[in-house]
Order: sequence, then C-alpha cells, then structure tokens
Amino acid sequence: EIIVLDYGSQYNQLITRRIREFGVFSELKSHKITAAEVKAIAPKGIILSGGPMSVYDDGAFSIDPEIFTLGIPVLGICYGMQLMAYTLEGGKVEPADNREYGHADITVTDPTAVLFKDLPAKQYVWMSHGDLVTKLPAGFKDVATSPNCPIASIADDERRFYGIQFHAEVQNTEYGHEILHHFAFDVCHAEANWSMQDFIDQQIQKIRETVGDKKVLLGLSGGVDSSVTGVLLHKAIGTQLTSIFVDHGLLRKNEADQVMASLKGKFGLNIIKVDAQKRFLDKLAGVSDPEKKRKIIGNEFIRVFDDEAAKLNGGFDFLAQGTLYTDVIESGTDTAQTIKSHHNVGGLPKDVDFKLIEPLRTLFKDEVRELGEKLGMPHSLVWRQPFPGPGLAIRVVGAVTPDKLTIVRDSDAILRDEIAKAGLDKDIWQYFTVLPGFKSVGVMGDGRTYDYTIGIRAVTSIDGMTADFAKIPWDVLQKISVRIVNEVAHVNRVVYDITSKPPATIEWE
Ligand code: XMP
Repeated sequence: EIIVLDYGSQYNQLITRRIREFGVFSELKSHKITAAEVKAIAPKGIILSGGPMSVYDDGAFSIDPEIFTLGIPVLGICYGMQLMAYTLEGGKVEPADNREYGHADITVTDPTAVLFKDLPAKQYVWMSHGDLVTKLPAGFKDVATSPNCPIASIADDERRFYGIQFHAEVQNTEYGHEILHHFAFDVCHAEANWSMQDFIDQQIQKIRETVGDKKVLLGLSGGVDSSVTGVLLHKAIGTQLTSIFVDHGLLRKNEADQVMASLKGKFGLNIIKVDAQKRFLDKLAGVSDPEKKRKIIGNEFIRVFDDEAAKLNGGFDFLAQGTLYTDVIESGTDTAQTIKSHHNVGGLPKDVDFKLIEPLRTLFKDEVRELGEKLGMPHSLVWRQPFPGPGLAIRVVGAVTPDKLTIVRDSDAILRDEIAKAGLDKDIWQYFTVLPGFKSVGVMGDGRTYDYTIGIRAVTSIDGMTADFAKIPWDVLQKISVRIVNEVAHVNRVVYDITSKPPATIEWE
C-alpha cells in the first residue's frame, strides 16, 4: 500500500488511482495523520499531494515531522514538495515572481535521478503553483529544472525523499505515469497484487456490514454510475434493495424505456418507476442560476424518494447513490475548493432522513466501468457515455422550459445517431448538444429566421477530470449540422465547442 496525504489538490484522488492502476493499493489519508498512525498502516511509500495553499498561509496544512523519521519513502508533489522543503532542515520556500499555471518544459539535469530513469532529459509537464522551493533541504540535490522554476525536482536517495514541483498524476504531464511508476517500484519496491476484484469483495463485505438486515433505497438514474451501484448492491444484499427510477423529464430520448428494459429485465432489480416530470419542471420554472438549478434538482430527487419510500410503508434506513470521486471533489471536500455542486452531493437537503451509502465514492468513471464489467454487466450498459444527474436541465443554459428541453433532446438524438453511424461512439468519451439560449438571424428558403443556436460539445477524456475537445471530422459535423437545422424546429445555427477542460468544464453549467 502507498498512502497519499491530502493537501487539497483537485487531483489528489487521481494520484491514488494512478497507483491502483499499477496494481498497488492506494488510498487518500488526511494530512492530519500522525506518525504513529502511519506506522500502524506500514505503507511502502507516502505521497504528499498538491494543494492550493502556500506553506506561509495562516493555518496552512502541515505534516507531522516525525513521519520523516519512519524510514518510509516520501514523494512530495507541488505543495507536497514545498512542504517537505519547508519542514526539513535547511530548505526554503518563496513566492514565485510569476505564478505558473499549465504547460512547462523541464530539463532533467541529473542523469542518475531515479524518478526520471530511462526518460528523455527534456519533457513537458503540468505546473500549477505560486510558490517555489529556492533552497534545498540538507541532504538533497536538485535533479530537474524549468525556465520559471529553477528547482523543479529534488532528491535525497539516502533517505528516499523526492519532490516534484509539477503534477505527475495528470495526463498533461508527458511521463507522469513513468515517474509515479518509478516511485512505486524502484523507490518503494511495492508489489503489484491489488485488483478490481479485491475492491468488489471489500465493498460487498462493507455493504453487508453496514446494512445488516435493514432495507436500502437506491436512486437509479440509468447512467453508468447508479446502474453499477445497483448491480453491486443487488449482489451484496439482494432483495433488501429497492430501486427507484425517477423520470424527471430531463432524460434523453427513449432513455427511460431502455433503462427499465436492461436493469429490471436483465438483472432482475426491483425497480419502481416514478413519473415526476411536472414536479421538476414546476420547481425549475424561471430559475436561471446553474447552482440553484442543481440544488433544486438534488432536493427534488430526495423529496421524490421520500414520498415513494413513504408509499412503500417506509422502513428504509439507507439511501444508496452512485456518487463518484469526481462528484465529491468538484463539490468541495474539507480540503478542496468547490467548482460546481454536483447534484448528488451538494444538493442534499439538511433534513434528509436516510443514511447514505455511496460505494463508488473513491472511484473514477473508468474504474466504475471496469467494475461494471467485472460484475458481468453488458458492454453496452457499462460503456454508455456519462450523463449528469441534473440531465438536460444543465444543457439548457438559463431557465428551463419544455420547449427548450425538446430542442436539446431532439438535437442530442441526432448527434448521437450520426456519431454512432460514423463509428465514433467508442472514441469520443462524451458528446451532447447544449442550448445556449440566445437567438440569431438566419435565412431559410427566402425568409429571414430569428432562432436558437445549438452548441455541440464532444470531448475525449479518461476520467472527466481533464478533457480535450474531440476532433470530429468535418464531414460528420456537417451532416449533424444540416440535420439539426432541418429537423429541429427553432434552430437556425450550429456551433462547435473547441475548448478543453481546463479551462472550460465539460458541461456548460
Ligand atoms: P464537468 O462539467 O464538471 O463534468 O467538467 C465532468 C463530468 O461530470 C458530469 N457531471 C455530473 N454528473 N451529477 C453527475 O452525476 C452532476 O451534477 C454532474 N455535473 C457534471 C459531466 O457530464 C461530465 O461527465
């Protein structure tokens, strides 16, 4: 096991999953962990994550200095490296003249550096920092440099302490995978003996222990996350699980029927379908603020469950949700900042009566898919593109109306149809249409039109944390554009979103 101490970076859980990908168990621990607690876990290595703070901030997260005396290898990433330099004797951290954010080129200056073993001396990395290490702690050497960051990586081979100022865990770092691999195996000598099957066994046992003989209600959206949650729970507790599928009127075309057919039909889950379109639309009427919309939808979900549970004569102690790590992190944890409140986390009302079960809470999307396949779920269900809980409501920018929903739903169906016909559905991670809500002038036949614009959003990604816009061939885009304008009433223009994440997010709200 390699533990990751959480200093609040958006990417911290990404570090644990990179390590798990190597077949080494890894989990996130609070930065408040004591040396004694670390000793009890006896990890093969410790990684200190990045974080938004400066070591000089009031209340800056620190580390029990005794941890450095345990003889366990430590890798500090970004803030983690600064904290290491600041805590260990002789090191110095100072504010950088220029905050550095994004792509940077580093040069490995020490060919013996173990983290960069067999890698080219010049490589690009992802930087995101305001402070710099300006003086090495005693016993360290500097092993890499970049134009804006003279000390970009540090090493003390004797004590097996290492630091990198950049984020090795994100895809935008060219050799990030190799660097973490070197730390796990060449430095920590970890053993690759952990698998997704271990995760399933652990979760099933944990669910059984938590639930006992009580009953669980699951909010099923039909997406990958809640479906996998459903099948996992069904495996663990069988008929103690009742699933409620809320058709909130914000689903894609024909989605409700497909979900019922596969999960109820094939997997034998006990599913109750609730038609709640009107409830949701009434609550959303006139609301244009994205965060308010998410909260309203989250609240209404819970209310619908409450009502349905009451109709079932109550008796449910637990509510299961398919919350993923990306939902948790972007809604803000106790260390990370809030970016968006995802409906199944941030929208929870204070007076909810259920205890929550969220077995996927530490996983990323692609790990959930692997889990689904291990559970024997069909490829078609597991590889469905992600669909957000608030559904089409966050793809109608601003206030939601039934007419606008129809436009998004119909244009989305055309997009999906053409992407599938072009054989691109496996290559593009997520693709959908959005209605920005403004109107512009067009000409159709001999007449002037003044109608809506539809935006096409298509991205490639591994886990949704970062994404690139997909490069759909022009001829496919052209077909999509022509069909949308011809077949969807009140649309006279189609645009293509060519922004990556960051700086944009995948959804527009
Ligand atoms: P963003 O827009 O934050 O989206 O880049 C990242 C991924 O998360 C999905 N998403 C959500 N999923 N509830 C969900 O279950 C939500 O409230 C939510 N908001 C965004 C989004 O579709 C993308 O795959």
